[in-house]
Amino acid sequence: MRDDATSARILDGLIAVVTGASQGLGLGITEQLTRDGASVIMADVQLEKAKTQAERLREDRKDSAPTVKAAHLDITDSTGVTAFFDQIVNEYGRLDILVNNAGVGQTVTPIVELSDAEWGRVLNVTLTGTFYCCRAAGAIMERQESGCIVNVASINGQNPAALVAAYNVAKAGVISLTKTLALELAAYGVRVNAVSPGPVYTEFNRTVMAQRCQSLKITEEQMIERIRSAIPLGRWGQPIDIAQSVAFLCSPAASWMTGEVLRVSGGMEGVSAAPPKRPKN
Ligand SMILES: NC(=O)c1ccc[n+]([C@@H]2O[C@H](COP(=O)([O-])OP(=O)(O)OC[C@H]3O[C@@H](n4cnc5c(N)ncnc54)[C@H](O)[C@@H]3O)[C@@H](O)[C@H]2O)c1
Repeated sequence: MRDDATSARILDGLIAVVTGASQGLGLGITEQLTRDGASVIMADVQLEKAKTQAERLREDRKDSAPTVKAAHLDITDSTGVTAFFDQIVNEYGRLDILVNNAGVGQTVTPIVELSDAEWGRVLNVTLTGTFYCCRAAGAIMERQESGCIVNVASINGQNPAALVAAYNVAKAGVISLTKTLALELAAYGVRVNAVSPGPVYTEFNRTVMAQRCQSLKITEEQMIERIRSAIPLGRWGQPIDIAQSVAFLCSPAASWMTGEVLRVSGGMEGVSAAPPKRPKN
């Protein structure tokens, strides 16, 4: 077995930013990148939560060199995003890894009833915020002629699920953004890939599932089982399942991969069931 304290790790010495890192998949990704030797800046709107988690991770790993820090970042603030990445370069001299993980789910609603506000809220964070971070970090990586970006998409971006159109469209956009940026930065040796997670039981999924349970008139336990049985490998994902594939895409083992969308979903391709007619008002 590898001894982390003494052996070279696959991301040793690299500087990484993970957005939406204070909980769920972002926290799992942060844990994995630090385990693999990277110093991670946990960027989130929930600063206090990110600070608490960063402190816990520093305690856990006090034997080893990588640092974990929390920072406030609202990815929907265009100017703030640029200033944040400039600050990273001022402080660390470079940026090696960006994981665009922050995103929000949609209130479960059919398109014919979807409000402008909800459409805008989801697209603004999940797609436009990812674009702002890609633009700012991409400019830095282009200048330094090194680096890699991993965007967290979703199986919904490839196979849309009913009643969450804004989310599906945002994630399809993230996939397109990934492939476009990969082409534009290839000449500079900067790699840009995406992972498409299947269902992982986080805050995000709990909220969406609670809404789906209500409309289907089933319990949360029944919903959990229904989804589990639709996953070919027969279990829900864990944050570490997603985190390990992100770390792989950031590592030298993926040095000839760019513009790739890696589905990490226990074999599930999407949730494509058509809902029944809704009762008339
Ligand atoms: N959980 C799943 O089953 C699943 C499946 C596929 C894709 N995803 C995607 O994975 C990513 C993480 O999902 P999760 O389940 O961990 O969600 P989560 O809701 O538990 O965590 C999202 C994090 O993003 C942060 N965030 C939200 N808006 C932000 C903003 N404007 N600026 C900065 N940070 C912001 C939140 O504070 C939170 O820490 C999302 O992009 C989500 O769409 C999740």
